[in-house]
Amino acid sequence: MSQNMFSLNGKTALITGAASGIGLAIATLFARQGAIVYLTDISREQGEKAVEEIRREGFIAEFLPLDVSDGGAVQAVAETVLKAHNKLDILVNNAGIGFVGTLLETKAEDMDRLYQVNVKGVFNLCKVFLPGMVARKAGNIINIASIAGIQAVRERMAYCTTKFAVVGITKSLAVDHAKQGVRVNAICPGRVETPFVKMRLREYPDPEKAYQEMSATQPLGRMAQPEEVASVALFLASEAASFVTGSCQMVDGGWSAG
Ligand code: NAI
Repeated sequence: MSQNMFSLNGKTALITGAASGIGLAIATLFARQGAIVYLTDISREQGEKAVEEIRREGFIAEFLPLDVSDGGAVQAVAETVLKAHNKLDILVNNAGIGFVGTLLETKAEDMDRLYQVNVKGVFNLCKVFLPGMVARKAGNIINIASIAGIQAVRERMAYCTTKFAVVGITKSLAVDHAKQGVRVNAICPGRVETPFVKMRLREYPDPEKAYQEMSATQPLGRMAQPEEVASVALFLASEAASFVTGSCQMVDGGWSAG
């Protein structure tokens, strides 16, 4: 192992949904660790702003607009990245959307929309980048699942369904491609204080009370910061995790332990 086992020097990384929250924290940390980072997102304005910030710190980043549910657009992004670097070392499937409701409150269209982004999006990205990783016998895929991919979270039926699927994709790819040098892991965060959660909080009649309740769900008594998920992604992306594949790393302040 090298002296700085967390270095990503010389690596190329692509992160989906990287304009905000957890994806942005991962992109920033990976760039600081020496990776050439592609931030992709549906939001061009926020994505370009994020890239500017990273470059201002002196690190290497590019923005490519991308809706992960659009297979054709995913293919075009892969062609751009592979033309520039001939390889992608690290793929982080982070883009995801939420939905609050029991099955009775979930329409078929809600289910389809969540599936297209949260599941098909992961499939689309893996489909275009895995062949190169297998051919080079080296690659690293990190999927941002959720505690809702491991256990039921109340009133999150559709979301749980998609995140259980993300865990399923993770474990299947890990088993199928371990011998080809590709490591595939999931991160299962509890509640993380990101725009995603802040938006949901505004929908509650008493957002402050909801914030306190959401924080208290986790034995550590607070929500995570996006950087606390990014550091686990760095571990998985790095040489330090060389024997880690097919795992679901809980970053939930102890929620799933109780
Ligand atoms: P966020 O809403 O702050 O950021 C998500 C980003 O994804 C946004 O920039 C958005 O523009 C982008 N995005 C949305 N749909 C997209 C699409 N179709 N294609 C490409 N980009 C798209 O969300 P946050 O909280 O950072 O979540 C990131 C991931 O972490 C999601 O997969 C989410 O399910 C997961 N997660 C979040 C938790 C939390 O408490 N915030 C807890 C557990 C998991």
